[in-house]
Amino acid sequence: MKQITITGGNTTFECADDDTILRAALRAGLGFPYECNVGSCGNCLFELVEGEVEHERKDSPAYTERHAQRKRWLGCQAKPHSDCTVKVSLRDHYKSIHPPKRVTGSLYAVEDHTHDIREFRFKLSEPAMFLPGQYALLYVPGVEGARAYSMGNITEDGKEWHFQIKRVPNGAATGTLFDKIRIGDEIGLDGPYGMAYLREDAPRDILCLAGGSGLSPMISISRGFARSEKLKGRNLHFIYGGRAARDICGEPMLKDLPGFGESIHYHPAISMPDPDNPAAWPGLTGFVHDIAANMFGDKLKDMEIYFAGPPAMAEAVTRLVVEKKIPPAQVHYDQFY
Ligand SMILES: Cc1cc2nc3c(=O)[nH]c(=O)nc-3n(C[C@H](O)[C@H](O)[C@H](O)COP(=O)(O)OP(=O)(O)OC[C@H]3O[C@@H](n4cnc5c(N)ncnc54)[C@H](O)[C@@H]3O)c2cc1C
Ligand code: FES
Repeated sequence: MKQITITGGNTTFECADDDTILRAALRAGLGFPYECNVGSCGNCLFELVEGEVEHERKDSPAYTERHAQRKRWLGCQAKPHSDCTVKVSLRDHYKSIHPPKRVTGSLYAVEDHTHDIREFRFKLSEPAMFLPGQYALLYVPGVEGARAYSMGNITEDGKEWHFQIKRVPNGAATGTLFDKIRIGDEIGLDGPYGMAYLREDAPRDILCLAGGSGLSPMISISRGFARSEKLKGRNLHFIYGGRAARDICGEPMLKDLPGFGESIHYHPAISMPDPDNPAAWPGLTGFVHDIAANMFGDKLKDMEIYFAGPPAMAEAVTRLVVEKKIPPAQVHYDQFY
């Protein structure tokens, strides 16, 4: 166990030898800035004033030579080799409502939602609560480093976490999860993390935008919405995008929720309809951000917006947010990498 001191105050916390400075800070209830937790965004950079650390992920995409020269390190990857003093601006926004825990998950069920999206349901070795829309780190056996996956369920007791995961061609973690992990197998889980959780105190209609791998957190947000007393009387619109009809899913899970078709509205769309057989998809066509713009126009400014999906979709939605002058505080997402 190492002691970490933050400059400019009396803040200290303990960090286990196999933990990272960011995650230990969040476990201690501190608001250490972050987003992806896997070395890709750079939001967790801090300055090392004293002590020695090492990055868990040596090829972190967010880390540059310039950072190294300026004694900056990624909090989500930095493991301490000694007691350390670090400089970072803590912010209440990043404090965890449910501090992350390291637990073991035992796989007890799987279900296919499409040809390449499968749900993996784990029972936890000890309960760990999370908010709708949050994610966890999965330590997949034989795979270097952790991968982030969003929970698709909601929970009252923290006993189960479910993940809807899209297979990535030649992906290390998804390849193992889809092809090797069996019912009864155990894997390491760490969470919850993430700031894109359901805001029950925001008195607005909700727009969930999901593409492909972004299904899970948006399903969790929708389930949280259906359960929420505070959000009664509001509407939730769920726009789900895929390339082709076979990529489309989500409706059966939403249909199970009270209010489906009344306060919960599902709008699937595909971006590459078959030109030889247009009748095969009678629904909406285009990208989710364009569908949202056409459907809601200037009303977007009055909505609470959650989104998740591949980087290209996130970039397009971010541009839409700027174009439509949607207040940033109403927009919630954790960038996927
Ligand atoms: C916050 C967040 C939430 C996500 N939620 C979901 C979800 O709900 N469903 C879903 O299908 N996908 C989700 N993803 C994407 C997921 O984490 C994986 O990137 C994706 O499944 C590909 O993993 P792979 O190992 O199969 O592919 P690979 O191509 O083998 O790995 C690529 C990913 O792993 C990262 N990586 C590579 N080496 C390391 C390492 N040593 N340590 C840490 N990371 C490494 C890469 O930066 C890249 O992001 C999420 C990502 C983030 C950041
Ligand atoms: S790089 Fe550390 S949180 Fe994204």
